[in-house]
Amino acid sequence: MQGKLRAMEIATPGHVNRLAARTQRLRASTIREILKVTQQPDVISFAGGLPAPELFPRKDLAEAAARILADPVDGSNSLQYSVTEGHPPLRAWVAKRLHEVWGVEVAPDDVLVTGGSQQGLDLIGKVFLNPGDTVVLENPSYLGTIQAWDAYEAEYLTVETDALGMVPEALERTLRTTSVPPKLVYLVPNFGNPTGVTLAQERREAIVRICERYDVPLVEDDPYGELRYEGRHLTPLIAYPSAGTIIYLGTNSKICAPGLRVAWMVCRDGAVRERIVPAKQAADLHTNTFCQFLFTEYAKDGATFAAHVESIRDCYRQRRNAMSEALHAFMPSDVRFNEPGGGLFFWATVERPNIDTEALLHEVAEKQRVAFVPGRAFFPHHDVKNAMRLNFSNMPPERIREGVERLAQGLRAYPA
Ligand SMILES: Cc1ncc(COP(=O)(O)O)c(C=O)c1O
Repeated sequence: MQGKLRAMEIATPGHVNRLAARTQRLRASTIREILKVTQQPDVISFAGGLPAPELFPRKDLAEAAARILADPVDGSNSLQYSVTEGHPPLRAWVAKRLHEVWGVEVAPDDVLVTGGSQQGLDLIGKVFLNPGDTVVLENPSYLGTIQAWDAYEAEYLTVETDALGMVPEALERTLRTTSVPPKLVYLVPNFGNPTGVTLAQERREAIVRICERYDVPLVEDDPYGELRYEGRHLTPLIAYPSAGTIIYLGTNSKICAPGLRVAWMVCRDGAVRERIVPAKQAADLHTNTFCQFLFTEYAKDGATFAAHVESIRDCYRQRRNAMSEALHAFMPSDVRFNEPGGGLFFWATVERPNIDTEALLHEVAEKQRVAFVPGRAFFPHHDVKNAMRLNFSNMPPERIREGVERLAQGLRAYPA
């Protein structure tokens, strides 16, 4: 028994010591543990960021898969190792779509296919960040980016962000006053995760010019741009000619099927691409060949693809409206929320001195059987406790209404 105890005493610290220092910040979040409970069927969960599964184009994808596999050349090539940069017809499709939808001029060679935009974020961290390097983020910001760059031991500088997105003057002030220039500026320009906020048109070029002037590469992460429910598209940052480096991330995840893990990184700066490609090669050799063929074959029929994206917009617009109406109808008067013009999320804040939405989540998950993501994790310095992110894409309007009513009950019952 003594021998066994001794072995355990030695084993635990030894094991931890062998891990790289950078893993210190890689910890399973306690929220994830709570959210596991919320997967029970009687819980209405606004927590995930999941697309509506009933909208996945299963039939069209099945037909596309059958066509690929029946073809002797494509059938074999789609199951073979492939090039790291990505399936050439997919790179050409991305360049064409960026031009058609967004008016952006890029060459297929500027496009690199990635296994989700999440891999793009990781690769950017891998090639740009040394331990202790600073990165400028919106406040709050996408949790997945914080997680990806935590692994490279980044430090975060946050810039004031209001209802119109990142404030250019605040960005300029930050870049002017830091002693060591940050390595990257990162933002989600359209219907951001978690806030649903869109960077105003009049701020876009200003941000590009500031990054250009201070020579800081800009990462424009745009998974939600196509999910606009009213009005016209705004100009992507990468559309402005600039002497600086702009890296644009796009993905099929929200306009087709996230399980395919097909996304793209667009960067005109050849020196950066030259480093990203071997970094990706080291990670996975290349993105899943079959899924690249599949998405390309499915999306090449422009009319079918356009109709599909339109049907997603119609469905999510209704769900967004249902959540807006329910928030107005049921929420106590100390809850503030935005009206997102697209994307997947509402962002709500509770104006009560002692509110802690992580504690609130515990309460409402257990008693009212409803869930959301507490806002704290999205703030790089984890210093805000009164916010919550509410997803509306993943359930029908009646359930959204019911869930918001339950959440409002929980909030009323929560100690003031
Ligand atoms: C802002 C943002 N960036 C990147 C991602 C990752 O997307 P993908 O599914 O392409 O990896 C997400 C996913 O929700 C996101 O919200």
